[in-house]
Amino acid sequence: MIYSRIVGTGGYLPPRVVTNDEFARRLDTSDAWIRERTGIAERRIADESQASSDLALEASRAALAAAQVAPEDIDLIIVATSTPDHVFPSTACLLQAKLGVRGCAAFDVQAVCSGFVYGLATADSFIRSGMNRRALVVGTEVFSRIMDWNDRATCVLFGDGAGAVVLAAGETPGIHASVLHADGSYADILSVPGNVCGGRIVGSPYLQMQGNQVFKLAVKVLDEVARETLKAADMSIADVDWLIPHQANVRILEATARRLGVPLERVAMTVDKHGNTSAASIPLALDEYVRAGKIRAGQRVLMEGVGGGFTWGAVLATM
Ligand code: ACO
Repeated sequence: MIYSRIVGTGGYLPPRVVTNDEFARRLDTSDAWIRERTGIAERRIADESQASSDLALEASRAALAAAQVAPEDIDLIIVATSTPDHVFPSTACLLQAKLGVRGCAAFDVQAVCSGFVYGLATADSFIRSGMNRRALVVGTEVFSRIMDWNDRATCVLFGDGAGAVVLAAGETPGIHASVLHADGSYADILSVPGNVCGGRIVGSPYLQMQGNQVFKLAVKVLDEVARETLKAADMSIADVDWLIPHQANVRILEATARRLGVPLERVAMTVDKHGNTSAASIPLALDEYVRAGKIRAGQRVLMEGVGGGFTWGAVLATM
């Protein structure tokens, strides 16, 4: 039996820190409002010269170094992003070139904030089928590029960053179970509706969101998919050392933990410092907790994504 296992993690945050007070200086908002409603204190914003593939490259190098795997030994690259460098080629192909390798399969997945979980589940399936041996799975975003910086209801929520893992074939799990879902009937509650047509962007190029609806749906599906994934692995929440939900809003994280009966000390939380980095949020949180020595080898982590589409999913893994 072939399984896949996370053998290295990496993360990258652009150096520029944007505090809540910076927003309060030019918008009708305050540090207190943002902290109380979202738990966010600051976020990182990429320099204009940095694209998603640049952030992905830094996170990938860190993950490869941690795994002691050379780029040429990777046979699959999956990049989860909703802010790709170009319409095409994919950010995964650009990352492959920046890593200085060629030939291996490389493609993007687009599942917004669930993208990393979708990518990880896909890479796990490819490895378990015997098709690939070592995969690089990356979540990378420059959401700052799709923000309306005058819309206080959205621009304070997001940040830029990238996280990566190296997944390798092995004889023991590794990844125990993955569950993915989507419901396109909710497309309108969270979207960037613009598209490229005749050399112009038609429609809005900015993120639009019905915050209350997203909030309620996120809490509901994060609870359901955690239970479904545990059931698929024949485990209970007591078997999980760390819950790593998508870092959207501290109130969503707390509500999810409460419903599942997980104490907050076992929930990874980086939203205060990173904001919502969409597809990057789960691998960034994983990497931060691994590097801090909080998440250790042999511990079990339940990673849960939820985002536009609407999409959601979870992956249960032993580190
Ligand atoms: N500063 C001050 N006031 C604000 C701000 C702000 N930054 N943003 C909104 N408000 C105002 C609104 O305009 C509204 O004013 P009104 O009553 O005069 O109309 C008031 O605050 C309340 O607005 P609500 O939307 O009801 O506030 P809520 O408590 O729901 O918080 C929030 C809004 C933080 C967006 C919340 O709904 C939320 O977190 N939703 C989840 C959305 C999310 O996390 N999205 C991330 C992407 S999706 C994902 O990753 C899964």
